[in-house]
Amino acid sequence: MNHELARTATTAASPSSATESASASTGWWRDAVIYQVYVRSFADSDGDGIGDLRGITGRLPYLAELGVDAVWLTPFYASPQADGGYDVADYRAVDPLFGDLQDADDLVRAAHELGLRVIVDIVPNHTSDRHEWFERALKEGPGSALRELYHFRPGKDVDGKGSDGSGGELPPNDWESVFGGPAWTRTTNPDGTPGDWYLHLFAPEQPDLNWEHPEVHAEFEAVLRFWLDLGVDGFRIDVAHGMVKAPGLPDIGHRKQVELIGAQVLPFFDQDGVHEIHRSWRKILDSYPGERIAVAEASTPNPGRLARYVRPDELHQAFNFHFLKCPWDPARMREIIDASLAATVSVGAPTTWVLSNHDVIRHPTRYGGGAQGLARARAAALLMLALPGSTYVYQGEELGLPEVSDLPDEARQDPAFFRSTGQEGLRDGCRVPLPWTADGDSYGFGPAGSWLPQPASWGSLSVEAQTGDPGSTLELYRTALALRRELPGLGDGRMEWLPGPDGVLVFSRPGLVCVFNTTSQEVQLPTPGRLLLASATTVEAEDTVPIPADSCTWWAI
Ligand code: GLC
Repeated sequence: MNHELARTATTAASPSSATESASASTGWWRDAVIYQVYVRSFADSDGDGIGDLRGITGRLPYLAELGVDAVWLTPFYASPQADGGYDVADYRAVDPLFGDLQDADDLVRAAHELGLRVIVDIVPNHTSDRHEWFERALKEGPGSALRELYHFRPGKDVDGKGSDGSGGELPPNDWESVFGGPAWTRTTNPDGTPGDWYLHLFAPEQPDLNWEHPEVHAEFEAVLRFWLDLGVDGFRIDVAHGMVKAPGLPDIGHRKQVELIGAQVLPFFDQDGVHEIHRSWRKILDSYPGERIAVAEASTPNPGRLARYVRPDELHQAFNFHFLKCPWDPARMREIIDASLAATVSVGAPTTWVLSNHDVIRHPTRYGGGAQGLARARAAALLMLALPGSTYVYQGEELGLPEVSDLPDEARQDPAFFRSTGQEGLRDGCRVPLPWTADGDSYGFGPAGSWLPQPASWGSLSVEAQTGDPGSTLELYRTALALRRELPGLGDGRMEWLPGPDGVLVFSRPGLVCVFNTTSQEVQLPTPGRLLLASATTVEAEDTVPIPADSCTWWAI
């Protein structure tokens, strides 16, 4: 571990730390556009077919020019990569696949010089099974103090009569892994006999930590400080609704628990106790200059419970998965927008908006695929960027990339693929490396191939092919992001619904009217103002204007 590097990096200026003190708050995150970089698929600098930190640093000018405010990097820490790096073996080391600590330091400094903030992922619900704690807990056998840092339990007997450990052939309770199958794996004792079981809500390579233990708290506080000292501007907290489990680990009594995630509070998700952890982390963030933030990845049954994560003494933001999961249905969309705004306003926090990430099917495909899916995705992007609050953009959505649904089985790496039967929920198709150039091996992703095959059609979707083409999705995002900066109040200001025909959502923001036509027909509207930006070709007219099907338009007022 290079603590020397971390120490010298404490001086790495954040974009505004020169002029800000810990107490002078600008609330930069309240309307920030934050770009998610899926590290292994963004840009490869060394030719191993896997994206890396230097690759990202080399492409930061692209992100600055795109007009985003911050970059969120998915985990790049030492890891056996059983779940794309969300299985961390050493929270203070960079995996050699992605570079080293010096590369991380260089990236943060280069980003700050370009005015971009950097958010990194923290994975506190579980470690890798190759983390030193877990390896030793297994090796030392029953009675090892390190087992207290995880959830080791005797199994139930086959006759189901109890958990006295005598037989223990069955898992301790009925919890299921998010990736399918039981959430428990049985261990083998050092003497070769079958032993206790351990809990893993995700893959068996991701044992859940026991957050009742003070050492787990102390370790994560130290890890947060390590990266804050290096200069990062905040954290995306993985499974922020996990960590705390209901006392006694009670059965759920439902066979398809994955269907309940996000639909109700479960004994392992969204327990009230998680909020104490987030409060303690907020104090650490606030003790650093430059407004360091945290965003929760939290699945909750409703926007009201999500707002609990962003109370004034907790986290700054939480991903709005209610918006992401919303079908193409104007009534549902309006309902979710209203509920999201009401819930966060009630606690004084900004709302966030997100359409895609590394765990879900890319939204052009979710919205039907093909030309219509892309038209809707472009419209949804303008809708999202016109709403009050902060927005997350997943790498490649600015290129209109679709999901890659025909990956060969042998190329797949998502642990969910190996544990479930159907195709649904598999996540490799949204993680295919980005096309940067119109031609060439891996379309400019790196000097030699890419870890997942890119479709032949991706040359025409590359950054190179779209740059300068006014009809391209890339230029649509660039213009929208530039306008967001020019129009004061568009980020965090007021919003008011205006009347509109069936299937058309119309609302005003300071200086702007947004018209979102979800129908498959052109509709006529009284001209709302001066046309600023349109997701589909729109002809301006004096009195009434035809609004294209599946489109969104911004009008200056
Ligand atoms: C989060 C991540 C996902 C990962 C899981 C387990 O949901 O976004 O990619 O598999 O946590 O860490």
